[in-house]
Amino acid sequence: MSNATPESNTENKLPFVLAITGASGSIYGLRLLQYLLEIEQPVELLISKGALCVMKEELDLDFGSIDQPEAFISRVLSYLSLPVDLPDHVALRLHRLDNYGASVASGSYRTMGMAVVPCSLGTLGAIASGLTESLIYRASQVALKERRPFLVLLREMPFGHIQLKNMLTLSEAGAIVASASPGFYHKPKTIADQIDFVVGRVLDQFGFDHSLFKRWKEDAQPLPYFSACNQIETQESK
Ligand SMILES: Cc1cc2nc3c(=O)[nH]c(=O)nc-3n(C[C@H](O)[C@H](O)[C@H](O)COP(=O)(O)O)c2cc1C
Repeated sequence: MSNATPESNTENKLPFVLAITGASGSIYGLRLLQYLLEIEQPVELLISKGALCVMKEELDLDFGSIDQPEAFISRVLSYLSLPVDLPDHVALRLHRLDNYGASVASGSYRTMGMAVVPCSLGTLGAIASGLTESLIYRASQVALKERRPFLVLLREMPFGHIQLKNMLTLSEAGAIVASASPGFYHKPKTIADQIDFVVGRVLDQFGFDHSLFKRWKEDAQPLPYFSACNQIETQESK
């Protein structure tokens, strides 16, 4: 909650499409959602049944049924320690996955891009195969065909041959293929630090300004001009 960088000019932002699927690590998707709403970024939210199952198992969370969207959203917001009444310009829209008439099913509905966080292997395979049986798959195809930023966050270890091929297919189609692999160079102390590292690197891919983790060399003093020249000369003279 404390690391968000509030932005002015919050109105008229294009929405961010966030899909949370049933891979381990649904906390990454929830933390990303929390951050986006904190900075007053409109979000189109897609959550698979598999994700709901994982949330129950990993986080002891039960948001209820997506068929009752208002109750569902207020439970999600309450879990994320966000006010249940979001400001009018901060839209959080939850979509049923069988609603192919939803805004995000069409390329003519403009968005700033889409992330699948985390992305299960099943969803990875479906997107790589061009399937559209779920609104998550259809919205993914839309993001790719419209050449919008599109990211999948995998958590698997190890990867099999089929998943590697699917990742390559998506990368060749323009997707950003990311893995939930927290670094250690920012000296994390807690699991929350690790989660924020991964979520921060996802946000980086979409150009969001944030301070969810300390960047490499963030505190380094810039080299004085002459000192930098000396270094170059020294290296060249070797
Ligand atoms: C606790 C738990 C953890 C799971 N972790 C993973 C995982 O890391 N990767 C994965 O591909 N599937 C995982 N699964 C299985 C998927 O949830 C399952 O294949 C589901 O059908 C995926 O559907 P979806 O892509 O529509 O969410 C997990 C299931 C449970 C219950």
